[in-house]
Amino acid sequence: MSINRKDAMPKLHEAFGGSFLIGAAVNPMTLTTQRELLSQHFNSITAENEMKFERLHPAEERYTFEEADRLMAFAKANGMAVRGHTLVWHNQTPDWVFENSSGGKADRDTLLARMKSHIDEVAGRYKGEIYAWDVVNEAVADSGDEILRPSKWLDIVGEDFIAKAFEYAHAADPNALLFYNDYNESNPEKREKIYSLVKSLKEKNVPIHGIGLQAHWNLEHPSLDDIRRAVERYASLGVKLHITELDVSVFQFEDRRTDLTAPSEEMLEQQAERYGQFFRLFKEYSEHITSVTFWGAADDYTWLDHFPVRGRKNWPFVFDTEHKPKQSYWNLVEAARS
Ligand code: GLA
Repeated sequence: MSINRKDAMPKLHEAFGGSFLIGAAVNPMTLTTQRELLSQHFNSITAENEMKFERLHPAEERYTFEEADRLMAFAKANGMAVRGHTLVWHNQTPDWVFENSSGGKADRDTLLARMKSHIDEVAGRYKGEIYAWDVVNEAVADSGDEILRPSKWLDIVGEDFIAKAFEYAHAADPNALLFYNDYNESNPEKREKIYSLVKSLKEKNVPIHGIGLQAHWNLEHPSLDDIRRAVERYASLGVKLHITELDVSVFQFEDRRTDLTAPSEEMLEQQAERYGQFFRLFKEYSEHITSVTFWGAADDYTWLDHFPVRGRKNWPFVFDTEHKPKQSYWNLVEAARS
């Protein structure tokens, strides 16, 4: 009897079924080009861009839900959960949101009313279907003394823009889990700021249920110790943790090399070792970590092909450009069994 290779290859979401959801960020192209891989290995999806403010709400009186609705239909057809990303962010938000009718700065009440009607419309539309939302994305400053980064939200509304966003989201869908989501989340300096922000929100009884650790990591950074410390620190707040945008770049941030047409053997080995370590750690903390989402699914498409070095290919996932399992995949399967 011949063995079907696919039968011998555990589905990732089944391998981790007792621990957490396994998600992928998708876009209109990958919903087609990665359809089979997605339905095979993942039981959660997130819109890479299609649910951002600029995509859903390009003008005050105009909402565009076609692509987001297609993603929802795909999830439904495949029995997948959906994480919503993202309601309030300083990026990919159109200028009209922050302007008054004469092109000057909108006032606080106007901006809050716009935030509320956006959240009502979007979270209301997918009520009961999107089980978790990144309500506020990347509001914390990477360095310096200030906790919050400068943004139009902060400038016009003041620091309670964050609490307001959570209150509006909770009112729009009282059953959705509401997350604060950020990158450099394992950096000790930023970790403490994220911790303080979420702690103060909880003390004010703001409806926040979790912290999203974006986890845009690479072969060396952050260290496993820093990741563990971040997970423990956030978990000590009694909130849920989601790994929301996991990818493991084969380049250091400072590395600007553009000559590689394929990852080296050494890169693939290191990447597999890192993936194994990460998932063993996620499993160890699966009482707190309830979802792990990759920021893509396979190496044929990643936002890292353009960032931070223009036009340079990267290979950050556990499936290769042909959707075949890399050593990283097998290390995940092993971690799942550990
Ligand atoms: C951040 C955002 C994501 C996405 C990535 C780059 O992490 O949260 O929505 O824009 O940057 O793809």
